[in-house]
This record gives sequence, C-alpha cells and structure tokens, in this order.
Amino acid sequence: MGREQPEPTAQRCINESDPIISAQFTDGVIFLRPLHMGDAADHLAGEDEAIARWLSGGRSTIETVQTYINSCEEQWRNNGPRKAFGIFDVASGKLIGCIEANLDPPVSPGQANVSFGIFSAWRGKGIVGRAINLMSEYVRGANQIRQMVARISLLNTASLKAVQRAGFRLVRVVGEPEGEMAHFVRDL
Ligand SMILES: CC(C)(COP(=O)(O)OP(=O)(O)OC[C@H]1O[C@@H](n2cnc3c(N)ncnc32)[C@H](O)[C@@H]1OP(=O)(O)O)[C@@H](O)C(=O)NCCC(=O)NCCS
Repeated sequence: MGREQPEPTAQRCINESDPIISAQFTDGVIFLRPLHMGDAADHLAGEDEAIARWLSGGRSTIETVQTYINSCEEQWRNNGPRKAFGIFDVASGKLIGCIEANLDPPVSPGQANVSFGIFSAWRGKGIVGRAINLMSEYVRGANQIRQMVARISLLNTASLKAVQRAGFRLVRVVGEPEGEMAHFVRDL
C-alpha cells in the first residue's frame, strides 16, 4: 500500500437493522463505521504503549473499553457532538484503528477536534491520512464545521509527521497541562 492518498470517494450506506446509526464511509482501502460493542476485544488488543500514552490516557482494560464504546454508542443515538469511528481494512474487514471528531470542543465555533490511533502493524502506510480524509467528508456533510483541529504533543514525532502529511498546517504551540501542544488546522 503506497503513501498516495487520492481524494476519497466516500460512499455512505445505512444498515437499517442496526439500532445505532451505522454510517460507513470508504475510499476502497479502509472504511469507517461507528464502534460497536463487538469491537471491544479487538480495540483493546490494538492498544500498544503509543496509543495508551497519546490517545487513551493510560492503559485500558476490557471494562474501560466497553464503557468507552457504550458512551460512543450513546453519542450516536442522541446525535451528540462526539463522533467516534473504528477504522477497518476493507480487504480483511479487520479493525485497524480508530478516529474521533468532537464537534463541540473548547476551540472556536466551526472547528472540530480530531484524534486518532492506528494499530502498530498498520502504521507507516498512510492509513491515518485516509481516515482523516474520510472524516473530513463526514464532518463537512453533517455540520456547520469549517476546519478540523488536531492537538499534538511536541514529543509525538509520528503524529506530527502524519498530520502535516495529511494537509494540516501548524497555527500555534500552546503550553497545556499535558505539556507543549502543537495546534494544527485543516480547512474542509
Ligand atoms: C500517529 C499515528 C496515528 C500515525 O498513523 P500512520 O497511519 O502510521 O501515519 P503515517 O503512515 O503517515 O506515518 C507517520 C509517521 O509515523 C512513523 N512511522 C512509520 N512507520 C511506523 C511504524 N511502523 N511504527 C511507528 N511509527 C511509524 C514515521 O515517522 C512516519 O513519518 P515518516 O514516514 O515521514 O517518517 C500512529 O503512529 C499512532 O497511532 N500513534 C499512536 C497514537 C497517537 O499518537 N495518536 C495521535 C494523538 S491524537
């Protein structure tokens, strides 16, 4: 799989039989769909030190993952501001990461905060860029959002590279309780 990331042609389909809105977006290589409880074991298995440190805020357990997925499902049901998707490999159907957009973050109106993690075996293939492109199409279609914002620790080299490759630009570096965070934006 190369680094080329052509503009995805997102396709949307709704699984009417699922009580959770099951929007799926694909570029032919990956697809995004809301996380379901059946994903909990795979989600936990994919969490390594990097995801625990930079995304989960510490090591998860099956219970904390289930609580997280439960809250994601509730957000989907109630049309809440937090939109969490699993990232899946089209060829195998496997869960390979996750991406979330918070449409009600403590940033400016019209901005959505995005965060993401790719399981270690799938890193270095531009997967997060694909997921960001699909998320961009989703938030553009669904809301009054004009920009995506990514807040990345200056110590998180892989993520700093990934967001710049994905078309984000650095706007400022802010001292936050977690340390110095680079704020990147990408117009939709
Ligand atoms: C940051 C992250 C999402 C990048 O995803 P990705 O799909 O691998 O992104 P890319 O393919 O664009 O690679 C980005 C950089 O990751 C690094 N990388 C490449 N292969 C790697 C591998 N096998 N393992 C770890 N890092 C790797 C490289 O520095 C690469 O940039 P470079 O090729 O210019 O040197 C992923 O590393 C990750 O999940 N990290 C842990 C969670 C995290 O930090 N999330 C961000 C907080 S919001």
